[in-house]
Amino acid sequence: MTGYRGLAFLLPTVCLLAGGPAYAQGTEGNPEAGEKVFHQCQACHSIQPGQNRVGPSLSGVVGRKSGTEPHYNYSPAMKSANIIWTPANLDKYLADPKAVVPGNKMPFPGLKSEEDRENVIAFLEQHSKK
Ligand code: HEC
Repeated sequence: MTGYRGLAFLLPTVCLLAGGPAYAQGTEGNPEAGEKVFHQCQACHSIQPGQNRVGPSLSGVVGRKSGTEPHYNYSPAMKSANIIWTPANLDKYLADPKAVVPGNKMPFPGLKSEEDRENVIAFLEQHSKK
């Protein structure tokens, strides 16, 4: 009766596999996790309104047009990029800043992890609601 043993082993495995997708990340990022990812941006970016550092303040950046934070000295490339920073566009930019806005002066190689990008965008969104 080894067949039963096999089944007893198989069933939990099948249940685990079926439960798998519940763990998969959706498109919604997690702002708390995003705050940790933002530590990588903080050397250059503040999340306080109007506080520009090496980079422009990222308060309110979601929904903002690229290159339009007042009193920040953008590169000509960013000034003329003409991108609305929707979550989708931020995702592309943060994956590879130099490819999306060639010649921009953000000295950051990008976030390779999709999950990090989703989370940090969720964090930025939280600081962009009026
Ligand atoms: C080493 C400094 C540095 C780091 C680290 C950095 N940035 Fe930047 N960022 C800049 C600079 C400088 C610019 C302005 C680019 C320009 O004018 O060409 C910029 C521009 C931007 C813009 C465009 C803003 C606008 O008003 O159009 C976004 C969005 C952005 N950064 C997001 C991020 C995020 C998110 C992170 C972290 C994952 C990050 N940056 C990390 C320096 C940095």
